[in-house]
Amino acid sequence: MSGDKQQVSRRQFLNYTLTGVGGFMAAGIMVPMLRMAVDPVLKTSGHGDFANVNLAVDDITKDPQRVEWEIEQVDGWYKSNVKKAAWVYKNDEGDIIALSPICKHLGCVVTWEGSDQHPNEFFCPCHDGRYYKSGVNVEGTPPTAPLDMYEKKVENGMLYLGEVKPHKEA
Ligand code: FES
Repeated sequence: MSGDKQQVSRRQFLNYTLTGVGGFMAAGIMVPMLRMAVDPVLKTSGHGDFANVNLAVDDITKDPQRVEWEIEQVDGWYKSNVKKAAWVYKNDEGDIIALSPICKHLGCVVTWEGSDQHPNEFFCPCHDGRYYKSGVNVEGTPPTAPLDMYEKKVENGMLYLGEVKPHKEA
């Protein structure tokens, strides 16, 4: 009887030992795999990056001009090239203004002087949305907020644009 008891204890000991070692080995394999699977989701993707939009500061006029560029966007495991656009001009003080062309009503694309009836304004053709040159929405038209503005910086005489932020007058 006491021999049986000892045999059972030995078996239990082996069970515990093998379970412990097996668990340890499984954790050693699973942790790196889990990390590899989750890591891209936790990484930030180019947050705060600026892109050269191929526009020399000397070429920026008082008339808004549309600039387009592409950025690589990383979304988890998926990488893609995304097209971006802005309306860029110098205001009366000589400051560079870079406005998002995305209408704040339902997301259509605004154009500069897109309406013959409303010159010197941004116009959204979807529902006749209008914005002053500053990007502020014209009251009484569908948009309820000014166009977003891009963060900007100048390096070696070239304009770089970053993230869109709410308009200063929003
Ligand atoms: S989406 Fe621009 S006015 Fe409606």
